[in-house]
Amino acid sequence: MQKTSRGLEGKVAVVTGGGSGIGRATALHFHSAGAKVLVAGRRADALAETVAGRPDMAWVTADVRREDDAATVIATALELWDRIDVLVNNAGVFSRGPLEEVTTGLVQKLFETNVLGPTLLAKAAVPHLKVTRGSIVNVSSTFGHKASPMIGHCAASKAALEHLTRCWALELAPHGVRVNAVAPGPTEPPALAASGLPPTVTDTIKNEEARKVPLGRRGEPDDVAAWIVALANPGSAWVTGQVLCVDGGLSVA
Ligand SMILES: NC(=O)c1ccc[n+]([C@@H]2O[C@H](COP(=O)([O-])OP(=O)(O)OC[C@H]3O[C@@H](n4cnc5c(N)ncnc54)[C@H](OP(=O)(O)O)[C@@H]3O)[C@@H](O)[C@H]2O)c1
Repeated sequence: MQKTSRGLEGKVAVVTGGGSGIGRATALHFHSAGAKVLVAGRRADALAETVAGRPDMAWVTADVRREDDAATVIATALELWDRIDVLVNNAGVFSRGPLEEVTTGLVQKLFETNVLGPTLLAKAAVPHLKVTRGSIVNVSSTFGHKASPMIGHCAASKAALEHLTRCWALELAPHGVRVNAVAPGPTEPPALAASGLPPTVTDTIKNEEARKVPLGRRGEPDDVAAWIVALANPGSAWVTGQVLCVDGGLSVA
């Protein structure tokens, strides 16, 4: 893991989807920057692995689509450390397939996880972020602002999250709460692996993706995590309402 410079000593960060991939790397970067970190997700074993042996890290199981779970996540951080400085809405799901095969259930799952979930967490966290003049970092995707075939509803859910980022930034600016987003390009280990597609299909997608990235490779979770932490850092105090593309140049290709 790359080291993120310290600067968040005494701060408390909540990271959803902290049991794997970008969320786990983000939680560890916050921890090495001096923050106390609560990770949330549905798989207890994965969350426990993220925090294992690390003081000032804790986990709580939650399905971000459930309002009572979102409230529990925020309440847990407050019980543990009595404050919240950063909310990272990282939990998300991916899907790929033709429009003719889209189902109501798939669209509901995408929007409930990628749009409703961040909303419920933000709603629960905002009163506490106002106290600390903290910040929210949402995790979008290159395809939240770049059109691409076969991923329309997944991309549209991230486009919604990017616009929520801008709207919330304006709504919360008078309270000193900043709201930004990081938009990763194709990153290992991929949300793709959790998409249920067969390995032959995911391998093909991964090779295609790497070829399209101007810097010639898929990203690593650390590539993305470092920028999530940077946006939450007080050093970014005059940055709000922004979507930062961390994608090897894919969004401008
Ligand atoms: N990897 C990429 O290529 C890529 C590219 C662009 C954007 N992104 C975005 O980056 C974020 C992280 O993805 P990743 O690549 O790190 O993939 P990942 O390893 O599959 O991480 C997704 C995380 O979200 C959690 N999650 C999913 N549904 C949830 C729910 N209903 N409630 C609570 N947690 C839930 C999962 O934990 P549980 O299963 O334990 O709940 C998992 O830890 C996602 O928002 C994704 O859209 C990824």
